[in-house]
Amino acid sequence: MKYFKLNNNTTIPAIGFGVFLIPNNGPTYDATLAALKAGYRHIDTAAGYMNESDVGKAIKDSGIDRQKIYITSKLWLQDYGYENAKKGIDTSLKLLGVDYIDLYLLHQPYGDYLGAWKALEEAVEEGKIKSIGISNITVNLWHKFKDGMTIKPVVNQVEFNPFTQQKELRKVMAENDIRLEAWYPLGHGNKDLLENATILHLAEKYHKNAGQIILRWIYQEGVISLPKSTNPERMKGNIEIFDFELTQEDMLMIQALDTGKATHNPEDPVNETRLMALKIHD
Ligand code: A2P
Repeated sequence: MKYFKLNNNTTIPAIGFGVFLIPNNGPTYDATLAALKAGYRHIDTAAGYMNESDVGKAIKDSGIDRQKIYITSKLWLQDYGYENAKKGIDTSLKLLGVDYIDLYLLHQPYGDYLGAWKALEEAVEEGKIKSIGISNITVNLWHKFKDGMTIKPVVNQVEFNPFTQQKELRKVMAENDIRLEAWYPLGHGNKDLLENATILHLAEKYHKNAGQIILRWIYQEGVISLPKSTNPERMKGNIEIFDFELTQEDMLMIQALDTGKATHNPEDPVNETRLMALKIHD
């Protein structure tokens, strides 16, 4: 596994295993254990995925040193605001069964965001969290929140893949030394992407599959990717991307696939209403 450096001088595995939409009480446990066996050392979960306890159990049962595994989780909107966030962080620690979390993100950009951020900053001071970051933050939202932050986020986790390249956001994040993390790195299995002629041409050229070409491109772009797969072959294959290198010309060919569009718009008030209504506990 390769690592990227973050703005607080910590390092993060360049690829993490994402467990979004994998159910708790079994499936997430099995998938996380399989991912750790396949060589993943970075698991990306969230309070909102409601599967932190399975992730924690799998990590424990893997027999791998806790220090060698990078755990990301995220605070859900229901727990925003300073006091609620403090409780939310403790709940994540408890469900994961760990005494620190490597990276903790504010999952969505609504509600009492800066109150929650203050609680995350304090948790860093207390040693409960090593690094803190943001997610689904657009350029406008960054300008809205940035002045209220004392600790700078290390990452911004957003939708990113060859069809959704977030060019303007990447520029602003780079100026602030905030690394991008890619959710839906494979377009959530989008066939138009996985069967795109340019991607298939490069797959043939390097004797790799389409997913590996995309994940290698993301890596060479300096972006952390969080691919999800419940298929053991693909899970393993998705980290076998460090034995070849795309040329500058290949990189440009993939850069040309950008549509400038995303499936999710965090600034859409419909999303705000829908996500604010999602409750994960009483
Ligand atoms: P599966 O679980 O059957 O492997 P994303 O990470 O962008 O959300 O994409 C996840 C989707 O892509 C899942 O449906 C997953 O299906 C599929 N997938 C994961 N890895 C690959 C790959 N290397 N090639 C094609 N599809 C993949």
